[in-house]
Amino acid sequence: MASGGGTNLQQLLDRFPDRKDSTARARICLVVSNRPGIGALERAEKAGIRTEVVDPAEYENPEAFGNKLIELYETESIGLVILAGFLKMLPSNLIAAFRNRIINIHPALLPLFGGKGMYGTRVHRAVLDAGVKLTGPTVHFVDEKYDKGPIIAQRSVPVYHTDTPETLAARVLEVEHRILPDVVGLIADGRVKVVDGIVHVNQ
Ligand code: GRF
Repeated sequence: MASGGGTNLQQLLDRFPDRKDSTARARICLVVSNRPGIGALERAEKAGIRTEVVDPAEYENPEAFGNKLIELYETESIGLVILAGFLKMLPSNLIAAFRNRIINIHPALLPLFGGKGMYGTRVHRAVLDAGVKLTGPTVHFVDEKYDKGPIIAQRSVPVYHTDTPETLAARVLEVEHRILPDVVGLIADGRVKVVDGIVHVNQ
């Protein structure tokens, strides 16, 4: 699921192509966006992947939006839902139906610098304002609490006093591009489990 330019999605499409001759352990087989005309959809179409636009504004309530997504994912036998820059709140019925099967990438070291309204440049601005010297992407399971689900993996990225939100975003994004496909590979290999709210990774 994506709402933007889709550079993280591109990494996934390259690592996990939906081709019969692919030796990858997973296949990206459906890309869902909440709005038409975005880069992520273009990238999916170019890769020959099915795309769907599902706009929550077109549903009478979050539950109806969730039911549409659940139906789509069940029909496609989706094992893992990846939020690759998806900016809408997920409905709770989808989260419940795909418990520990939805992951998100956040461009800072959670549990700091997360929560509602913390996306895009705002995250990096908050990191710079706090004066911390390390930041970096977090991949976590999605639960009902925004940006609070069990953390699967994090990487550190240095913060320089000369940084702007844009330079910092670019440095973090480069690392996002590696960590997200790595985590998907670990999950596809069955190496990730959640025990009492804590993720255990069998490397
Ligand atoms: C990334 O920084 C991701 O962490 C955030 O949204 C951005 C998406 O970029 N949630 P892209 O659409 O993958 O290029």
